[in-house]
Amino acid sequence: MTTVTERLEPDSAGLDRAAALLARGDCVAFPTETVYGLGADARQSRAVAAIFAAKGRPQFNPLIVHVADLAAAEAIAIFDADAHALADAFWPGPLTLVLPLRDGSGITELVTAGLRTVGIRVPAGEVAQSLLRSFGGPVAAPSANPSGKVSPTTADHVLEGLEGRIAAVLDGGPADVGIESTIIGCFDHPRLLRPGGLPAEAIETALGRPLAHAPTSDSPNAPGQLPSHYAPDAPIRLNATETRPGERLLGFGPDVRDAALNLSHSGDLVEAAANLFAYLRKMDAEGSGPIAVSPIPDHGLGRAINDRLTRAAAPRG
Ligand code: TXA
Ligand code: MG
Repeated sequence: MTTVTERLEPDSAGLDRAAALLARGDCVAFPTETVYGLGADARQSRAVAAIFAAKGRPQFNPLIVHVADLAAAEAIAIFDADAHALADAFWPGPLTLVLPLRDGSGITELVTAGLRTVGIRVPAGEVAQSLLRSFGGPVAAPSANPSGKVSPTTADHVLEGLEGRIAAVLDGGPADVGIESTIIGCFDHPRLLRPGGLPAEAIETALGRPLAHAPTSDSPNAPGQLPSHYAPDAPIRLNATETRPGERLLGFGPDVRDAALNLSHSGDLVEAAANLFAYLRKMDAEGSGPIAVSPIPDHGLGRAINDRLTRAAAPRG
């Protein structure tokens, strides 16, 4: 999809415009203190799917949810004592906490890649804070660069990579920190998942004990490989052009008949991506037979959909 990308000043008119674009489901790049993020309403699955489409990302990595303050974060995630200590010490700031997702959070499954956890942070940048307050909801945002390129620290960098692919960029000048947030998983024991803009030593000082380091199987560099990644209970068969006895069909496109669910009747890959995790979960809840999946074109978001389905169909360990 091509569009004219608006360049917005961070004054009240620009912030209002950015918030209105987010509310209607468009993607808007905005500055945080670490790097520029490509934001979308974290409750709208089509808006979040459009982030992956704009970045040309071949996989659905879980995204970080940005909120204005701790109260907004607590409506989405469950904080234990360690998570509270870290939020008190470092928010707003370049720290992302991966925490259990709260029931009824409203966050769409494409943000968490179907996991039961959510990465969440309160950014410190003044423009990010103003945008989150004007918008009044959670904003999912990866770094605002095409997949495989370096993270942008100015609005010009964002436009070099994404002009014509996103609705707007809010220009707040150069990002202060310049590298992404530090990511800490807070479950039984706080764990360093990604080094970043907040030194691990400062985090250990605030906790009063050392961080655990990520085992390779838990590395957020390869979130799709996480054993905890949601996989349906039912076996999955890909590229199915017909169903075999006992199978239920997860369809795609206008020509499919007798599908239990259809990812997109019109064959729209953005719509299919938006529906993917919710439909897999629904088919799991509603029956136990194997799931056959119609062929999905392997371009655009279809690559990410096929990547995810291939993992879900792989033999279980
Ligand atoms: O500074 C930053 O963190 C920037 C700004 C825009 O906030 N954002 C950023 O997002 O770097 P991104 O998408 O490039 O990196 C997000 C990382 C990924 O490595 C992802 O695996 C991890 O966060 N992540 C998010 N949610 C997770 C979860 N539930 N479990 C494990 N890892 C998660
Ligand atoms: Mg990135």
